[in-house]
Amino acid sequence: MQSPTSVHTAVREHYAELARSSSSCCGDNNLYTDQLLKDLPSEVSSFSLGCGDPITLASLKPGETVLDLGSGGGLDCFLAARQVGAEGHVIGVDMTPEMLAKARGNAARLNVTNVEFREGYLEALPIEDASIDVVISNCVINLSPDKPQVFREVFRALKPGGRVAVSDIVTNGQLPPAVQTNMEAWGACVAGALDVQDYVRGLREAGFVDVHVQPKGAADQMLAGLPIGVPFSATITAHKSAGSERTSKEVDLESAALDRIELPSGKLEGLLGHVADLQPLDNGYDFRVTGDLTEIRSVVDAIRAQISCCSPLQVNLVEAPDGAHVRITAEATAPVIAVSDIQ
Ligand SMILES: C[S@@+](CC[C@H](N)C(=O)[O-])C[C@H]1O[C@@H](n2cnc3c(N)ncnc32)[C@H](O)[C@@H]1O
Repeated sequence: MQSPTSVHTAVREHYAELARSSSSCCGDNNLYTDQLLKDLPSEVSSFSLGCGDPITLASLKPGETVLDLGSGGGLDCFLAARQVGAEGHVIGVDMTPEMLAKARGNAARLNVTNVEFREGYLEALPIEDASIDVVISNCVINLSPDKPQVFREVFRALKPGGRVAVSDIVTNGQLPPAVQTNMEAWGACVAGALDVQDYVRGLREAGFVDVHVQPKGAADQMLAGLPIGVPFSATITAHKSAGSERTSKEVDLESAALDRIELPSGKLEGLLGHVADLQPLDNGYDFRVTGDLTEIRSVVDAIRAQISCCSPLQVNLVEAPDGAHVRITAEATAPVIAVSDIQ
């Protein structure tokens, strides 16, 4: 297990106290439909520290394996367990022992057999590679001091073709620095909230495609009028492409290109993610070539072939006359569907 940061320690103390006192915090009590909560004892259904309903968002299917990041008292795990049924499995991960004790007590009380709770950090998930169909989370990722690492861990844990359905707090621009460093505001799901553009970028850089952020409820209508840096609740969905199991040809092309060029790590993944999501790249990516250009041309051709049937994007490769430098750009040839309309 990784060593805790000061944020982990402050957040853990905050949630340990809430588990001991059984008080709900940063959400309203009407997050779920009555139908979803049906037949749950009120002590279980009312202990929600979330800010949305990732269960409905996830459209879970019988037999699926679900991972809940920051499972708290376990409510989302129990709701997920009903939907995936006896053939499915739900794993809740949380770093706060008091929350895990509460969740395990609730599981025993409900007599559910397809749910387990594991102690661990979102930044170092106690989960095998490529073992999860759906990752859900409710108002937790904002609490992590290292969100890019969380996104990488989620990507690692998901099977190819797996999906993310998260409810979280985000902002429409950077929070003021005084808020960002306030530990009480971290615990209250405010200070750690990511700017929505950084959220989308972080997921893409981890390898996700089809990334969508949707402000929840009234935030959707009010967003344009909100001052910069205001936190609000949103739903976030993303996919790990089934093609994440790359063909050996693609892997060869990529590693050949990586051998020959100075490529900042993750850039090619990022490029592929943008293209798959139909997002134009403003400035393109620069590649400094130390060998010949054959491999990088092949990678660009592979990308063009991948998107040729359905994309309004045109991918360009601009080669510098000295043969030592290339730039890849993608431009829209027709209106592009925005990942998120939030600016
Ligand atoms: C706001 S509560 C949400 C709990 C639950 N998802 C719900 O909707 O009721 C945040 C939970 O995430 C856990 N948590 C926060 N940061 C974490 C991290 N970096 N790693 C693991 N768990 C974390 C806390 O212990 C707490 O139980």
